[in-house]
Order: sequence, then C-alpha cells, then structure tokens
Amino acid sequence: MKKIFGFVLLLLATTAKAQGPLIRISTNNISLVYSPDQRGRLIQKYFGRKLQPETADTLSKSSQEAYVTAGMESLLDPAIRVVHNDGNPSLELKYISHQSSKKDGNVTTTDIFLKDPVYPVNVVLHFESFYKEDVIKAWTEIKHNEKQPLLLTAYSSSMLHFNAAKYWLTQFHGDWAREVNMEEQPLTAGMKILDSKLGTRANMYQSPMFLLSLDKAAAENSGDVLAGTLAWTGNFKFAFEVDQLNALHINAGINPYASDYTLKPGETFTTPAFIFTYSATGKGQASRNLHHWALNYGVMDAHTPRLTLLNNWEATDMNFDENRLVQLFGGASKLGVDMFLLDDGWFGNKFPRNADNAGLGDWQPNTTKLPHGLGYLVQEAQKQGIKFGIWLEPEMVNPKSELYTQHPDWVLRLPNREENYYRNQMVLDLTNPAVQDFVYNIVDKTLSDNPGIAYIKWDCNRMLTNTYSPYLKDKQSHLFIDYTRSFYKVMERLRAKYPHLPIMLCSGGGGRTDYGALKYFTEFWPSDNTDGLERIYIQYGYSHFFPSNTISAHVTNWGKQSLKFRTDVAMMGKLGYDIKVDAFTDKELQFSHDAVTTYRRISDIVWYGNLYRLISPYEDDRAVFQYVSDDQQKAIVFHYLMNVRRKEVFEHVKLQGLDPKKNYTVKEINLFPGTNSAFRFNRSYSGDYLMTVGLNMAPRATSLTSNILEITAE
Ligand code: DGJ
Repeated sequence: MKKIFGFVLLLLATTAKAQGPLIRISTNNISLVYSPDQRGRLIQKYFGRKLQPETADTLSKSSQEAYVTAGMESLLDPAIRVVHNDGNPSLELKYISHQSSKKDGNVTTTDIFLKDPVYPVNVVLHFESFYKEDVIKAWTEIKHNEKQPLLLTAYSSSMLHFNAAKYWLTQFHGDWAREVNMEEQPLTAGMKILDSKLGTRANMYQSPMFLLSLDKAAAENSGDVLAGTLAWTGNFKFAFEVDQLNALHINAGINPYASDYTLKPGETFTTPAFIFTYSATGKGQASRNLHHWALNYGVMDAHTPRLTLLNNWEATDMNFDENRLVQLFGGASKLGVDMFLLDDGWFGNKFPRNADNAGLGDWQPNTTKLPHGLGYLVQEAQKQGIKFGIWLEPEMVNPKSELYTQHPDWVLRLPNREENYYRNQMVLDLTNPAVQDFVYNIVDKTLSDNPGIAYIKWDCNRMLTNTYSPYLKDKQSHLFIDYTRSFYKVMERLRAKYPHLPIMLCSGGGGRTDYGALKYFTEFWPSDNTDGLERIYIQYGYSHFFPSNTISAHVTNWGKQSLKFRTDVAMMGKLGYDIKVDAFTDKELQFSHDAVTTYRRISDIVWYGNLYRLISPYEDDRAVFQYVSDDQQKAIVFHYLMNVRRKEVFEHVKLQGLDPKKNYTVKEINLFPGTNSAFRFNRSYSGDYLMTVGLNMAPRATSLTSNILEITAE
C-alpha cells in the first residue's frame, strides 16, 4: 500500500448484498449512516449525534432515500431530475458499491456509487468527513453514456432528512450595507426556500448559509443544531420541505433556476460541496467546528498572518493623485500597519476613472493621476516601510471604456433589449475563454509589471441581469453555472502562478461570502457598512460560519461612535483602516498606533482561538464576544454597550471555555490615552470563578462604549 503523508491509505470496497451494508460517515461526535433497502435504493438511516453503541437497530428512525430522484414514486422535491434521450423524465438510482479511504488520521472520504438499472446514468455521492472538526463535506457527480446529451434540471449537492417535533430555521439575509440580518422562524408544512438568482454578486440579499435547530429555537450552548453552507460563488438553493408526517427534507445545491444543463455522454457534472456540521450543544459549538474546519481546510493560507492595512476608499474616493497617495503612505506608517491598499480610481486614460461611470475595463494607470505608474507607488510605499496592495474589478466593464468599444462581444447582454446597468456597469462574458485570458492577463500583468504588489482587493460590484452570453450561443441555460466555473478556472490559473498572494474577496459589501471562493481568497469584505454599531450585528452574523481572520473589518468614519468603539469592533475581525489619518488628533493617532500594536499581540487568539458568543446583540442592549486560545492560557473579551437605558442593570458577564482550575489575571487593554479603566480587576480569579460568577463589566454603563479585556493564565 502506498503511503500518503505518512498515513496508510485504506481502501475498503463493498459490493451490494441482499441485506445491504451500513455505510457510516462519522466524525468524533456526529454520524451519517446510509444503507440500501431490499430494492437496492440507498436510504439515509440516521443523521445526528453519534449514538452509543452504534448498531443497526438503533438506526431505524429514517427510511428516506438518500438522494431523491424525480419521476419515480417519491413526492418530495427531488435532489436530481433528468430527461433521457427518449424523453423519459425519470431516474431510478440503485446502490452498486461504496468505498472509504482515510486520507490521513483526520479526514476520511466515502464514495457511494449509484446507477439507474435501465438507463446508463451513474451518480456518485461523495463525502469527506473531518473527524476532529465534526464537519462533513458532501457533493455529487453525475455521468451517463446515453447517445445524446442528457438534460439535467435538478442537481443537488446533497440531501438530508430529519424527524423532529419542530424545526427552527435561521436565515441570513439583507441588502447592500445591511448584510446578514439573522431571522429565525419555525418551519411549517410545505416548502421554504432560501436562494439566490443573482449570479455574480450572488448573495446580495441572501447569504448562502443557514442554521437549523431541532425541537426548539437555536441556542448558543444547548440543543441540536445543523449549520450548513454551500461552497459556490453563484446561485444557490436550500430547500426545506416539511412533509405530511412532519419529517424535514433539505436539498442543498446550485439553484437550478434558468439553468437546465445538457450533459454530454462521458462528461461529468460535479456539484459544489455542501459543507455542514451538527452540534448537540448549540450553535456556539457548530460555529467553532466550522471555524476550525475553515482554518485547517477551507480557507487559502488560513494560518498565515493577515496584513493590517490602510485603505484609501473612504478617505479619498477616486479623487487622488500620486502625491496625495504618497502622503497617505505616511499615515499608514504612522499607524504601524503592514500595508497601504490603493482602491478604485487609479486607471483609465481615454475614459479616466474619476467616477463609477467610466474606465472600468481599461486597466492602465491613469497618467494624470499616476504619471510614474504603479511601480513608483510600490517603491514609495516600501521607502516608508509598508507594502502596497491594489484594487481590481476585472470581471466588469463600463460602456464608457475602450474595452467595451473594442470587444462588444465580450459583454453579457440580451439581444433586442436595452442594456441594463447597475452602478453604470456590465458584466463580462467570463464563459468565453478569450475573456478568461483577458481577466487572467490583467491580474498577471499588473503583478508582473509592478513587482512588490503584495495584495489584491478583488471587487465585483454588480449582480447578473442581461443574462445572455454571446459565447454560449444555444446553451444559454448554462450561463449561471458556467460563469461560476469560469471564475474558478481563472482563479486556478492565478493561484498556480501566485500561490500565496493575499487576495480579498470583495463584492460591493457582502455579495460574495462562501467557501467556494475562499479556497482562492484569504479574506472577504463583509459589508460596505463600517458603522461600529451596525458592524457588531454584521460581524456577529458572519461569525456563525467564518473565522475572524477572514472577516475584514476597517475603522472608518461611518457611524457616530467614538474612535475607540469603532476600533474595538474592527479588532474583533481582520483589522484595517480606511480613514484620513492626517485628520487624527495626536491622541487619536497615539491610540490607533497602540491599537495596531496590541492587535498584533492578540491576533493569534482572535484569529485561531475558540469563539464564545457570550451575549448576542439581538438579545440584549450589549454584545459580548470571547476568544480563548486552544491551550486555555489566554482569552480576549470584547464588550460593547449599545443602547443603555436609564438605570439599566447589566448582569455579570460569565466567561466560557477557560480551565476552571487555572488562575487568571484580568486586564483592560486598548484604553484611549488619558482615560482610566473603570474596572477594579486587581486580583487573580480562578477560571471557575470567571465562568460561574463572572465579571461586572458595566460599572458605569454608557451607550456606545466598549472594552477589551485580556485574560491571562498565571
Ligand atoms: C465596493 C467596495 O465594497 C468598496 O470598498 C470599494 O472598493 C468600492 N467598491 C470601489 O468602487
């Protein structure tokens, strides 16, 4: 047997028997079990907390087909629907075999092979289970050998079935600058669908993630919770169907809306992965599972320290020139951040990019604003001891651009219809290989002509309308899917050449926030809304699925709170600034410089530690978050008082995740110069005390004030 990473590859192949085998996909605490029935149909026997002992007779709760096909006897929303060459719109899938192989001590892959007994159609259900993290990744491959293409009209990544008394669904929805509002409701009989049909800026209204709590509303530290998300930067669909027997069936995958797919004989249709975890101790644990999985497997270079930065978008908009930028570099170095990030407005000559109505697509530095080009800026930044990063939006074009004039056939646009603009721009037809080359070359040229560029902010400021591809001709219903696949193709090429360049996934706020893209991107821009108060809710929402080093958080002039409040909020994510540093008072500059230094010291705990959401902003007039290092030696508490009412009483904050037997010191950090801590935490506390009695964190409760505590084991 071959050794992979020092571990022995274990391959178990089992073929169907009359009494089907139990196929267990399990992790440390959860278990998903399948077995074929007498007819050979694959049944989901169990999903949930691992039972002790795990025997066949304990797994009798469910008798639902694992991957429901359309056209046969099931009345459920199907996972798959095909139309065969002869027009037959049905599919039967029977179990053929399965195999499991251990990739290493933590990851096991399981493949279950299914086949139609009459038509030459094969389906493989793939699973990757992550033992320590309690996460499962599920995706599907569809293949056939019919004479002509097979029509696919539904193609879920995975299906899960539940039997509980009640189901509570939390969705994350919003709008531009109002992202990921959490709303929870009990599911009633019938269908509830969370989806997106927006293509590029896929989740402008609805983010591709959900929580499902069984029997009662989701709680932070108790109850059975499923947390699921789709690794796909495009249209997604989560369908929740409660049937007449009160069983719940979840279909997760690409949204088949306007996306009938013709699959050629021999070609494989691979769905994106549905990534999920299950916790029997509430949503807090579900989030920690996903964070650990993301850091170990889901996010590009997740263990590489992220760069703190100063961005110029909020400070200058597109009104700058090279002298002003060099001045701003001074601000970055005074703050002590790692990098300056030049935003939109640096390019376009025939159609200068001075507003959002021109220049997009013409990626040459504007010679009036930047007479010495980008290379000069890289060098000037380096002289001031900082790195230089750049904004790009390479998938888009303004009609007022040379690109649009030269390549009208590269633009997605409906025949016989007026062009529909959003932010004055159109989307390029990325399904066209020539456009893929163009996008790749723009990025490659920008990086190779200007050695030293250390970072890219990759923006995407509009959703898809004008959904017609000149390139796809009679395959228009492939557009949504092929667009996303083409985006990944470009990213694959770029990552082959630039494997470790940090790139922010930005989409005019939280329009792209998914693990399909985070394979290639190091962090994402959660919202253009950087108001400190609003950001508490936004970062709280994303924290259910993403670790804090992926959630970019910039200190800006949005919001009426103090600089300290806004900074304390940003320090809970991936810290950056987007503000006029030269307008700071001496004290503000001193505070911000010290905050950057402090952030560098505590960021390991915030990025890689265990998050405990102690108090939710949705449930109280304050929000409290705590990050604890794996070894329980250090913890950081972020405490935000939001709307304090007259004589409002705030209970002690009980910490979590500490070692009850250890003694800890508690210190307030990140104080504004000239202010003193209101706390008297001048003795040591046992972990048990901190978790049972807790700390009075609101001795002088005032609206829109905040504190950061550093807790250190003695
Ligand atoms: C939208 C982004 O979210 C902003 O941060 C900024 O980069 C603008 N685009 C620039 O056009």
